[in-house]
Amino acid sequence: MKITVATKNPGKTREISRILRSFLPDVPLEIADLTAGGAFYESPEETGSTFMENAEMKARCAWEKLGPSAGLVLGEDSGLEVDYLHGLPGVRSHRFSGPAATDEQNNAALLKKLEGVPWEKRTARYRCAMVLVDGGAVVARSEGTVEGFILMAPRGTGGFGYDPLFYCPELGKAFGESSAEEKNKVSHRARALAGLAPVLRRMCQTQRENL
Ligand code: IMP
Repeated sequence: MKITVATKNPGKTREISRILRSFLPDVPLEIADLTAGGAFYESPEETGSTFMENAEMKARCAWEKLGPSAGLVLGEDSGLEVDYLHGLPGVRSHRFSGPAATDEQNNAALLKKLEGVPWEKRTARYRCAMVLVDGGAVVARSEGTVEGFILMAPRGTGGFGYDPLFYCPELGKAFGESSAEEKNKVSHRARALAGLAPVLRRMCQTQRENL
């Protein structure tokens, strides 16, 4: 079963691919993303006010550009919500400190905004919304979150994005200090994918029956 993840972020594709293969070990999966055609593929502007709206926009846009060759299309939008900042960076996580911001610049901007804020007020969560499109129509939606705290300084080099600043109480360490297996057990992305796995399993069964 072919799935195109509507992203150019290889960090996300890597995680989604590992998680889906662990949920569906018996389903033959071919997972692609938009990096191959990256030079000409214009990502849609993320104008939605929620992760779910943006996830759907990304999935529909990829389907319109790629058509049936994409197989199923998985739209994903995710980010960090910091309670002290009333939910920011939220849907602006990728471009928190400017349109072409690097992860390092975003992390520095976040630390600056939380300067002097005590530990108990540094609560945050990652949120991930996913939309599955088949033949141009939305067939499933799912959302996942993981709760944590924003550290006073980066820890570790694992993961991507805000991971060195995200302390996960469930793991007892920062995502930046965690292995891929550890992060994938509890992450917002894994929890969103857990909602989609039964749908994908059923679709695979139907495909087999129709062969
Ligand atoms: P998107 O490509 O618009 O969905 O951007 C999501 C942004 O949210 C990423 O560029 C990261 O800054 C942040 N983000 C989402 N998920 C994660 C994660 O698992 N780890 C670290 N940062 C994340």
